[in-house]
Amino acid sequence: MTFDRSIKIAPSILSADFANFGKEIEAIEAQGCDWVHVDVMDGHFVPNLTFGPLLCDAIRKHIKTVMDVHLMIAPVDTYIEAYAAAGADVITAHIEASPHAHRTMQAIRASGCKAGIALNPATPAEAVEYLLDMVDLICVMAVNPGFGGQKFIRSQVEKTKKLRQMIGDRPINIEIDGGVTPETAPLVTDAGADILVAGSAVFKGGSVDKPEVYGENIRAIRSAIGC
Ligand code: DX5
Ligand code: ZN
Repeated sequence: MTFDRSIKIAPSILSADFANFGKEIEAIEAQGCDWVHVDVMDGHFVPNLTFGPLLCDAIRKHIKTVMDVHLMIAPVDTYIEAYAAAGADVITAHIEASPHAHRTMQAIRASGCKAGIALNPATPAEAVEYLLDMVDLICVMAVNPGFGGQKFIRSQVEKTKKLRQMIGDRPINIEIDGGVTPETAPLVTDAGADILVAGSAVFKGGSVDKPEVYGENIRAIRSAIGC
């Protein structure tokens, strides 16, 4: 994967039909998404349970773009290798879930994946200051992690601006996760975000039998930000 700052849409398969992941992924890719976002939850760090490495391994062969794995789990270090072996391109861990986030980022890069650090809405931008030279992506959570379909928390726009300033000319993407819609997307891209995770806004109204709705939803986000 090479670094660039073009705006990318990363649908979260948390909003897909869980009985049909292969076809759902093929549909969103055919309809023009850039990355596929996989929300891994452990029922401990967040109050919901989702995908293990075996599921990631099973869906990997359906993904032609980028498998973007968001780990909402604690502890996290012990599972990095398993998600890397399952074919993740990007692995993101939460700063709040890792008492040794520096080591966690080293371990993700050593596994051959791009390293992402995620911040919950209450965590200040400054929390990642000493990680900036060892991360490829910063994920700003614009909802409290655990569930799709929640309301965008506006204070995260200011945090995104601050992070983009702190990053300077380092090759780091800023990803926004949660509550991204055609209404909120321009706020965060103007603030310096380049990867937009969208679950409900991409999957709403569509299905594998009506994949063109996914395309319309993706284009609605793109046209709201003029790309
Ligand atoms: C929340 C997840 C998000 C979520 C996004 O814990 O990390 O990826 O599924 O869903 P929407 O776009 O519906 O807010
Ligand atoms: Zn996510």
